[in-house]
Amino acid sequence: MALNTRNNVLVIGGSTGIGLATAILSLSQLPGANVIVSSSSKDKLEKAVETLKAGPTAKDKLIDYIVGDISNFATQKDDVEAILKTATEKFPGGKIDHIVWTAAGPSSATLGGNPTSQDALTASTARVYGPLTLCHLAKTYMNDTRRSSITISSGVLVYKPRPGIGQVLGAASMDVAARALAVDLAPIRANSVILGPVQTTLLDGLTKGKQEVADHLANATLVKAIAGADEAAEAYLYSMRCAFVTGSGIGCEGGMLIT
Ligand SMILES: NC(=O)c1ccc[n+]([C@@H]2O[C@H](COP(=O)([O-])OP(=O)(O)OC[C@H]3O[C@@H](n4cnc5c(N)ncnc54)[C@H](OP(=O)(O)O)[C@@H]3O)[C@@H](O)[C@H]2O)c1
Repeated sequence: MALNTRNNVLVIGGSTGIGLATAILSLSQLPGANVIVSSSSKDKLEKAVETLKAGPTAKDKLIDYIVGDISNFATQKDDVEAILKTATEKFPGGKIDHIVWTAAGPSSATLGGNPTSQDALTASTARVYGPLTLCHLAKTYMNDTRRSSITISSGVLVYKPRPGIGQVLGAASMDVAARALAVDLAPIRANSVILGPVQTTLLDGLTKGKQEVADHLANATLVKAIAGADEAAEAYLYSMRCAFVTGSGIGCEGGMLIT
């Protein structure tokens, strides 16, 4: 199936890390790509847009940002809908073709001991309930064809938990969610990306000043490495580009799941 000639891409969590890398790759890899990045920080978004506009494939494309904090459980529906509505007002042609969700609040990986259900809710509001809210709302704002996609983020911890985070991971089965959402959203496709360790500010929070933690993570993969954000972005591009992949958990974890 031919790719769209225009691809309007919204990256929620696109100011840094894997989201920003996906926005950069979308501009060079998707025909007629227009990119809007969204996150809670205006400063970071302005920097991200500067980076995107400086790229070699930015000419004649819409590159913009929307500030939106999606971490408040009580207002999340309105907050996500405001992002979608603003995006459709900005994108040429109106509707969105691809939505990537890489927004993350506080990390479950940094929770110690035995997290409470409140900890689980805090860690899950942006990563779990956010994408679910998005999928509940998105169809009206998207081109309703199998060329369109929603790609959400998951991680190896779901399959290889470390002690003490069962409570959090119980709510975090985004790969299962992607399968069910693919059914609900069809023909729009829904996939998750199962990530291993990726060098971003999020991972820096775990490894900064702790080379032994970084070494441990790299050694836990088959390829003995931590991925670059650009490598992780390739998995999101696959989800966007292949109009026959839906309900899939796309692995990008360096073989960590079979070590
Ligand atoms: N890096 C890894 O090793 C790894 C491994 C497994 C899974 N993951 C998952 O991959 C996804 C991307 O992570 P990353 O490593 O790229 O992290 P990152 O660089 O920290 O990016 C997280 C993004 O989320 C945004 N964000 C944070 N709080 C927000 C809020 N309240 N409202 C809206 N946006 C918010 C951040 O922007 P602002 O600060 O500007 O709001 C940023 O754009 C996450 O879901 C993460 O759990 C990452």
